[in-house]
Amino acid sequence: MELLSCCWLWFLLLSGIVEIAFCDQDGFLSLSCGGTVSYVDSSNISWIPDSAYTNAGNMSSVVYLDGSSASQIPVRFFPDSLGTKCYRLPIKNVSSLVLVRTQFVYKNYDGLNKPPAFSVSLGRAMTTTVNLAKTDPWVEEFIWPVDKDTLPLCFYSIPEGGFPIISSLELRPLPQGAYNSGLADFTSKLLRKSYRINTGYIDGSLRYPLDEYDRIWDADEDFSPHHVSTAFDIQNNFNLSNLKETPPIAVLQSARVLARWADLTYNLPIDGLGDYYVVLYFAGILPVSPAFDVLINGEVVQSNYTVKRWDANALFFTMRGINGLNITLKSISYYPLINALEVYEILDIPLETSSTTVSALQVIQQSTGLDLGWQEDPCSPKSWEHIECEGNLVTSLELSSMKMRSISPTFGDLLDLKVLDLSNTSLPGEIQYLGSLQNLEKLNLSFNQLSSFGSELEDLMNLQVLDLQNNSLLGAVPDSLGELKELHLLNLENNELQGPLPQSLNRESLEVRASGNLCLSFSTSSCTDISGTIETPQVTVLTPSKSKGHKHIAVILGSVGGVALAFSVMAISVLLFTRRKKPESTSKPNAGVDIRNWNAARVFSYKEIKAATNNFKEVIGRGSFGMVYLGKLPDGKLVAVKVRFDRTQLGAESFINEVSLLSQIRHQSLVTLEGFCHESKQQILVYEYLPGGSLSDNLHGVNSKRITLSWVRRLKIAVDAAKGLDYLHNGSDPRIIHRDVKSSNILLDSEMNAKVSDFGLSKQMTQGDATHVTTAVKGTAGYLDPEYYSSRQLTEKSDVYSFGVVLLELICGREPLTHSGSPDSYNLVLWAKPYLQAGAFEIVDESIKGTFDAESMRRAALIASRSVERDALRRPSIAEVLAELKEAYGIQLSHLAAIV
Ligand SMILES: *[C@@H]1O[C@H](CO)[C@@H](O)[C@H](O)[C@H]1NC(C)=O
Ligand SMILES: *[C@@H]1O[C@H](CO)[C@@H](O)[C@H](O)[C@H]1NC(C)=O
Ligand SMILES: *[C@@H]1O[C@H](CO)[C@@H](O)[C@H](O)[C@H]1NC(C)=O
Ligand SMILES: *[C@@H]1O[C@H](CO)[C@@H](O)[C@H](O)[C@H]1NC(C)=O
Ligand SMILES: *[C@@H]1O[C@H](CO)[C@@H](O)[C@H](O)[C@H]1NC(C)=O
Ligand SMILES: *[C@@H]1O[C@H](CO)[C@@H](O)[C@H](O)[C@H]1NC(C)=O
Ligand SMILES: *[C@@H]1O[C@H](CO)[C@@H](O)[C@H](O)[C@H]1NC(C)=O
Ligand SMILES: *[C@@H]1O[C@H](CO)[C@@H](O)[C@H](O)[C@H]1NC(C)=O
Repeated sequence: MELLSCCWLWFLLLSGIVEIAFCDQDGFLSLSCGGTVSYVDSSNISWIPDSAYTNAGNMSSVVYLDGSSASQIPVRFFPDSLGTKCYRLPIKNVSSLVLVRTQFVYKNYDGLNKPPAFSVSLGRAMTTTVNLAKTDPWVEEFIWPVDKDTLPLCFYSIPEGGFPIISSLELRPLPQGAYNSGLADFTSKLLRKSYRINTGYIDGSLRYPLDEYDRIWDADEDFSPHHVSTAFDIQNNFNLSNLKETPPIAVLQSARVLARWADLTYNLPIDGLGDYYVVLYFAGILPVSPAFDVLINGEVVQSNYTVKRWDANALFFTMRGINGLNITLKSISYYPLINALEVYEILDIPLETSSTTVSALQVIQQSTGLDLGWQEDPCSPKSWEHIECEGNLVTSLELSSMKMRSISPTFGDLLDLKVLDLSNTSLPGEIQYLGSLQNLEKLNLSFNQLSSFGSELEDLMNLQVLDLQNNSLLGAVPDSLGELKELHLLNLENNELQGPLPQSLNRESLEVRASGNLCLSFSTSSCTDISGTIETPQVTVLTPSKSKGHKHIAVILGSVGGVALAFSVMAISVLLFTRRKKPESTSKPNAGVDIRNWNAARVFSYKEIKAATNNFKEVIGRGSFGMVYLGKLPDGKLVAVKVRFDRTQLGAESFINEVSLLSQIRHQSLVTLEGFCHESKQQILVYEYLPGGSLSDNLHGVNSKRITLSWVRRLKIAVDAAKGLDYLHNGSDPRIIHRDVKSSNILLDSEMNAKVSDFGLSKQMTQGDATHVTTAVKGTAGYLDPEYYSSRQLTEKSDVYSFGVVLLELICGREPLTHSGSPDSYNLVLWAKPYLQAGAFEIVDESIKGTFDAESMRRAALIASRSVERDALRRPSIAEVLAELKEAYGIQLSHLAAIV
């Protein structure tokens, strides 16, 4: 988009000069839906046609009466047709927030007088149902926490609802960190605007350029005003720096002010039962400092709130399960006032499906040779065709009668499958690659040309139905199928099997169908009957006793996770604080109101921690600083609770600042700090719990249950971890240098997605433009940047070095330092680099030999050896490393697709 002229307004503040970009439209996207021309509107906003952002729908136009003047405006409508009805909106800045405003207009454009109703989704969330019979035009506004570089906005017809229709679509970047105070788990929430009121102002709505983010602030007129006061010129006197939402000066300048001792109430009808987020803005525009209680629906949510002269501030409240909203200010001294308010409905964004699952499904789609229309997320907002989900888990895949021609190894990555139907898909040979599907209950491989049972079926501990009819299975039925204790239907009809059926299958709860084979029955004597008809056991009702299989899995996961955490905490340096503090900022669980003042950080009381860990019952790790316990929050979420006993290092202030900062850093490839507790001399950090163990465990662990990592999985882990580091270096503010990148600090979730852990306290770059920070040497032997060692200057390139060592570990499958073999192989970097630079791959891990694509390996090896260059200047940036790894991963994926 064309960058419009940029004018700068300078505000002289109390102590210094702050510049504010005022007319900068960079990042705005304004689409005239169904339009054909570009134009600039009366607010100086540039509009463009929408055709580059969607390939669905038809164009039309409506006559639109706006006040007294009528105008012809374009619209786009979506007739019933196959395929998705979506816009794909580009997001320039992925580490931010974006406001999405949509306007839907019907105005009888089709002459049928039938206003449509339809649903709208944004990203993975189904947001709302638009009903133009109720209001026409209909405007929706959302605040979206960006997590992707493209935001899909889609329409869904509802039966008898008519064609979805839209007239305009606007994207506006919002300031980073805005609208998350007091909102737990912000990144999984989407805000839908209910109200944005410029209280005390009655002269129409305000928007861009007065609001540089182009929010529309509605006038106060509809809401029973008592008294309106417009204030003085406040531009020169106000310090707005603690308001991340940056409401416009013009909005703060006016307030609703009440006479002393009176109450001021806003009755705001809302769309029905739900959770709501309320933001109240106060600016000290009066010559006195009034104090008052704030009540929401009759409950005091903030008592004795004082608005100091020249102060601008906001209060944030989350109201759960309400169906109406009354906001009251009750005077304590002087005149209660309020300058603006916003109310949003809080909607959940469904969890993303694991990227391992998504890649596997994409490979499978390719191998069908069909376009199955599989785009975006498999499960949300609607599950893909041929797929069923439970939450964000893909639990069923039915590809019956497609031409697969072989069982792709990627089926083995769909770990959550309960139902897999590959019947009639031209599969030859051996049944393979499915052993990892531990949740599988129903497997249909009928009507193929399979000739061998393979050895993996016996691993499917939860299998209940196995349909192998009409294949070319030869020889005897393996005894090991008897291990499948849950099995109640085994269909072997019409194969070329012979010999007695194993007695282990001869049980009441199992129906075996065996007709149409050469000779197959439980009795050894009847094998003269070549006609193939034999009697089968009676079917009996199965009483599901799943617990055994599940318990088995739970135990494995539990032990892997435990070991992983033990590893990951060894080198943690957690800096904690000592001041005793009353738990006044923790929530009152029964009040239905959350007031959280530490941004995204959740403040836990010691009591809550005790309850979550069941009184510190289960130790899952032991670090140099103290213990790590498994905890479970009231909402069921598992967490790793790190408790420190000795108290040194940071003071209270710095500790809180840093923890609050860290908890704002949320990224899919970083382990999330959920919150902290700073009470009764306790210093506790609460992290998200990852059950899959550390990369180090999975690569080098002695635990026999560890999963052998294929090359494509290793690349996926490398890509994930590089994304996390890239975010720390380039996406977060302030920039953060990890300082202790190593394979035991890369943790895996249950879906094998990797996340970087233990970045953090006191390690961030202080200044945006600083090139290094000078610190004491810290890190782990084997991973430490040699240049950092000598210069003590820490830069992002030190992390790149350490990450390069991790890449070498992935390629060679060995630890960075060993004391076995010949001395020239002790140090992984020194040993591996010359081989890899020469493209000599004999040092690649035995367990992945023969399965990697040579070009994919060449790329990865090259970027790994560049990352461990001794001269930091010659090392690539993490962004470059990430780009190369993605290439290598993509090549390996298409290699897999090509061989299936
Ligand atoms: C504005 O307030 C913040 C925090 O309250 C303070 O750190 C900052 O120095 C103030 N800025 C000015 C210009 O007074
Ligand atoms: C729109 O921008 C132009 C310059 O591009 C400027 O001259 C004009 O005053 C602006 N109009 C409004 C209404 O802001
Ligand atoms: C939409 O456009 C397509 C192709 O341009 C046309 O065939 C179809 O009739 C149109 N549908 C409606 C309802 O106008
Ligand atoms: C992305 O947004 C953040 C916060 O709004 C800002 O600090 C950063 O400069 C932006 N990055 C780019 C590339 O525009
Ligand atoms: C309200 O707070 C002020 C200090 O901020 C205090 O002086 C005053 O006594 C308090 N009033 C009540 C009623 O608690
Ligand atoms: C809000 O106040 C009105 C009248 O003051 C009352 O009828 C309504 O029930 C209140 N709503 C809630 C949710 O408390
Ligand atoms: C197998 O698929 C073909 C089409 O590919 C179909 O004609 C046939 O009826 C299917 N057979 C069964 C048993 O489903
Ligand atoms: C397996 O698929 C075949 C062909 O689609 C179907 O006839 C059969 O009923 C399925 N088996 C089970 C147990 O659902």
